[in-house]
Order: sequence, then C-alpha cells, then structure tokens
Amino acid sequence: MKQSARLRFWFTRVSFVLFSLLFFSCEKEVPKSVVAKDSSYPAHFPEIEYPDDNQFTDARYKLGKKLFYDPILSEGNEISCSSCHKPELAFAHDQKVSPGIEGRLGDRNSPSLANIAFHPRFMREGGVPTLEMQALVPIADHFEMGSNIVVAAERMVQLEEYRTLSQQAYERTPDPYVIMRALACFQRTLISGNSPYDDFAYKGNRFALDAREIRGMNIFLSDKTQCSTCHSGVLFSSFDYANTGLYESYDDDGRYRLTLEEGDRSKFKIPSLRNVGLSAPYMHDGSMNALSEVIDHYASGGANHPNKSDLIKGFEISEIEKVDLIAFLHTLTDDHFITDERHREE
Ligand code: HEC
Ligand code: HEC
Repeated sequence: MKQSARLRFWFTRVSFVLFSLLFFSCEKEVPKSVVAKDSSYPAHFPEIEYPDDNQFTDARYKLGKKLFYDPILSEGNEISCSSCHKPELAFAHDQKVSPGIEGRLGDRNSPSLANIAFHPRFMREGGVPTLEMQALVPIADHFEMGSNIVVAAERMVQLEEYRTLSQQAYERTPDPYVIMRALACFQRTLISGNSPYDDFAYKGNRFALDAREIRGMNIFLSDKTQCSTCHSGVLFSSFDYANTGLYESYDDDGRYRLTLEEGDRSKFKIPSLRNVGLSAPYMHDGSMNALSEVIDHYASGGANHPNKSDLIKGFEISEIEKVDLIAFLHTLTDDHFITDERHREE
C-alpha cells in the first residue's frame, strides 16, 4: 500500500474510534417505536436489529434519507452518498472506482448497500464494526466526500429544516451523533428479498425460474463450483473473508490492514450476490466487467496467492453451463427493490 493510502487509512480509523468514544458516552433516552413492516418484507429474511440507542422511528428514517441524498455532507456541496450508491443500481455504482469530490479516485469499487442491515462488519476488509460508525469514513475520506462530520453538522445547524428534523429524530441539534445514527437508520431499511429467485425458492412459485435458470442454480449449488459454500444462505454471503486468487500480488492488503496477520493479507469480505446483475464492475477493485469474466476466473482456479482459499481450485465448465449460471445470477435481481419509491429521494 502506498504511504499516503496507509496514512489515510489509519487517520479515518483513528478518527472514528475517537468519535465513538465521544458519542457513545452521551446516550439519551429516546422513545422507541416498532418498525412498520408491510407485506413486501420478505418472510424468509431475518429480523432487522436496531441498536438500543438507534431504534427505528419515522423521524430518524426521514432525516437519514434526506442526508443520504444531500451533498451537504461533502466538501463544496458536490456529491452525496447516492452519487456512488445509486438506487437504480441496488445502491452500487457502475464505475470501476467512483469519483469523489473534484473527480478524485480512490482504489475500491462501491459495493451495493442492499441488505446492509445484516452485515456483521463493514467495508471490504471488515474494518468498521457498526453501520453508525461507517458514515464517518466516506464523509472524511479525501477521495470521497473530503469533508469532516463536525463541519457537516455545522452546515446542517444553519438550516431550519435540519434543526427541526434533528429535534424530532433525536431531540438534539444536528451533530455527529445525529448524522451517524440517522444515516444508519435509513440504510437498515434497504431490504432486497423479492427477486424471481425468492419467488421460486421461498414462495413456492415453481414457474418463477425457467429451465435454464434452474440448471444454473444447480451449478451454483454444486460441489464442483463451491459457489454456495462462500456465497451462502438467504443473503448469498457467509460474510467471512477470503482470498480468491485474483492476483499473485495484490495492490490492496484487504483484511491484513486491520489484523496485520499474514494469513489475512488480501482477503476481502465475501459479497452478497443479490442484485449482482446490476452491480458491475466486480471485485474490491472493480477489475472485472462481466459475470462471464468472473466465472472464467473461478473456473481457471485463479492466481497462486499463498492465502488463496482451498475452495478455489478450478473446474470444467461448458459454454452452455456458463450461460445457465449467468442466467441464474440474474434471477437475484430484485426489480421491486430498485423501483421502490420509498428508497428514493423525496
Ligand atoms: C465517492 C464514492 C462514495 C461516496 C460518496 C460514498 N461511498 Fe459508501 N462506499 C464507497 C466505496 C468505494 C466503498 C467500499 C470502501 C471500502 O471497502 O474501503 C463504500 C462502502 C460503503 C459501506 C460499506 C459496505 C459494505 O459492504 O461493507 C457503506 C454502508 C457505505 N459505503 C455507505 C455510504 C454512506 C452512508 C455514504 C454517505 C455518507 C457513502 N457511502 C458515500 C463509495 C462511496
Ligand atoms: C472461497 C470463497 C468463494 C467461493 C468458493 C466463491 N466466491 Fe465469489 N467471491 C468471494 C469473494 C471473497 C469475493 C470478493 C473478492 C474481491 O473483492 O476481490 C467474491 C466475488 C464474487 C463476485 C463479484 C461480486 C461483486 O459484487 O463484486 C461474483 C459475481 C462471485 N463472487 C460469484 C461467484 C460464483 C459464481 C462462484 C462459483 C463459481 C463463486 N463466486 C465462488 C468468495 C468466493
């Protein structure tokens, strides 16, 4: 890793530890409310767990959503969270790396925020333990919003609408405590579990997938490919970390950044494959443009990295099987999710 990147990494990590010490020590009692779950909530999904100090309320959700779409959090009012996490792309982005303010380019691809409520840890190396703390990273990151959460809060204080919403949500004037929690409250509602695959596998609609897609599903679930060992369960991820042999020598140290253990070097969080048809380019660095390229990679067994998972050892796959597998991956696209007006800017 370049020296500047290392400094930036530790700066953001240290600053959120400081902030968390500061803001977790001044909790306040707030009235709790129950999340209104409508019939679109996937019954086969886990419950969303809201932390004690950030239970769901309509006011918190509304404030979080407004902030998510508002460039006020960035230096120069240039970009918002939604510039890199677009609702029509399942809250991912279609560029290898998404430009931050002044077109600055970082080194990682923007992941989808669908079902982010269920991730045990955040960022591609799992360096951030809560969704509340995650907001500190993009706001401060030089290559993303290039600002700082205290400055962002000061800007909000100038605006009556934010003062009112902030009182209604957390009984406080806008401050970092409010920004971190409101953004997390909104993001926890981004639930995607109504794809054709869900209809087929969990709602008993055996016509939801066609023959080709079912063949692809069986390839995905097979011992030959081992896809579902890592991309497992209802969320298509075990949320463990793995090195998939993309390179013999990576530019990005992945989980090693956090643990400094050699065995973690260039391991990355296993991404969920829900809406993967919308989230190209792929991998931590956006280095693969198409699902066919991803499958060719797994079939080849990848490069010989000392930490490469034993599960990645290559397999034979015909052109027809490849088409089937890709067709299956597209059944994880949830049109209800990407067109849901509730997730959009008001
Ligand atoms: C310039 C583009 C950009 C902007 C702006 C941006 N993000 Fe991100 N986001 C990324 C990238 C790239 C990553 C992956 C970073 C990493 O792993 O180090 C990411 C990761 C995340 C994650 C963790 C996802 C996971 O799978 O662990 C969350 C949550 C998130 N962003 C929310 C936000 C919020 C909230 C905002 C606004 C305050 C925001 N992002 C602004 C590009 C952006
Ligand atoms: C050892 C665990 C493991 C196995 C087995 C595995 N994957 Fe992955 N997969 C990962 C990890 C880790 C990443 C992210 C790597 C990175 O960011 O560099 C990933 C990334 C992907 C991506 C890109 C997703 C995105 O949003 O960028 C796709 C698509 C994918 N895998 C599909 C598959 C398919 C299909 C199979 C079976 C042929 C498979 N995976 C087998 C661990 C695994």
